[in-house]
Amino acid sequence: MASITILGSGGFGLALAVLCDRIGHEVTVWSAFKDEIDAILRTGELKSKLPGVTVPESIKLTTDISCVSGKDIVIVGIPTQFVRDVCGQAKPYISPETIIVSTAKGLENATFKRMSEVISETLPDNKIVVLSGPSHAEELARGIPTAVAVASDYADCAEYIQKTISDGTLRLYVNHDVIGCEIGGALKNIIALCSGILEGMELGDNSRAALMTRGLNEMTRLGVKLGARPETFVGLSGLGDLIVTCTSMHSRNFRAGILIGKGIEADEAVRRVGTVEGYTCAKVAYDLAKSLGVEMPITEELHKIMFENKDRRAALRDLMYRPYRSETTWSD
Ligand SMILES: NC(=O)c1ccc[n+]([C@@H]2O[C@H](COP(=O)([O-])OP(=O)(O)OC[C@H]3O[C@@H](n4cnc5c(N)ncnc54)[C@H](O)[C@@H]3O)[C@@H](O)[C@H]2O)c1
Repeated sequence: MASITILGSGGFGLALAVLCDRIGHEVTVWSAFKDEIDAILRTGELKSKLPGVTVPESIKLTTDISCVSGKDIVIVGIPTQFVRDVCGQAKPYISPETIIVSTAKGLENATFKRMSEVISETLPDNKIVVLSGPSHAEELARGIPTAVAVASDYADCAEYIQKTISDGTLRLYVNHDVIGCEIGGALKNIIALCSGILEGMELGDNSRAALMTRGLNEMTRLGVKLGARPETFVGLSGLGDLIVTCTSMHSRNFRAGILIGKGIEADEAVRRVGTVEGYTCAKVAYDLAKSLGVEMPITEELHKIMFENKDRRAALRDLMYRPYRSETTWSD
């Protein structure tokens, strides 16, 4: 049995908490917000995100960040832009032996950094494992069979996490490409937003297949430039997550995209849906690609829709009328 603290009582944090509790681990969940904890304690579930999923009483819920103290594992389950701050708050209480599992998918706005980089800057003495792949909280929490990748610079840590939190409902595969797993997890949100836009415009399956294939191509291109291995992008954290986020109503990025596709302003669509990590990631990835000279036409058009008020139909037309060329791969 391992002792585990999960930072974040949102959909994913709680889904992992329910899973770890079911395996038999000692689980504590931390939230920055007392009302979040109170609501779960009152109703026994997180009605807004995981309705119908019982949060067992054996899971401790707290707003006291010192709950990370002396744990075998701390899982970071909060949105990207708060990871640095929350890890900073936890730092005085975390011992160097604790393994940190990062589940946040995105890049830090101000620095373009991946989450494991942000965490290792904040908690330099701890070993980090990245967990990424197609894993909607709503399904994971219900025990629907799911497979994801765990990547680390320390193979023994990735293997330890694999053994510790796999069960008959969650299967973990060890991967050695931390950069690729994190870049795949971050960039697929951009393509999922675009997939939603196509859906909202009532276009067909051909359009979505083209988007996903060419989207994977440009995700790989940026990832490889950053040091990732191209084959990682056809694994669970790349293609796997891309498929699930581009096609599922569980995906907030996909749902926000649908609203934009129907003609709702981008910031209003994001406001209605809530955490839409593809929105911030589109800006970061666009700036990063520009600074590195990497061609990312889909990301560029999404950026224009989101931040320059470009009409979605004009963006699609401009993608279709780009100079004709051979079917390029990530390396071209
Ligand atoms: N939802 C999924 O299916 C899923 C799957 C895999 C990975 N993830 C990743 O897990 C992370 C969390 O996603 P989620 O779906 O649980 O999000 P969520 O919006 O449901 O929950 C977010 C949590 O973060 C907390 N939070 C919000 N603002 C905060 C702040 N300023 N300081 C501290 N905590 C704050 C909230 O209190 C809440 O507990 C994201 O980075 C996401 O990419 C989510």
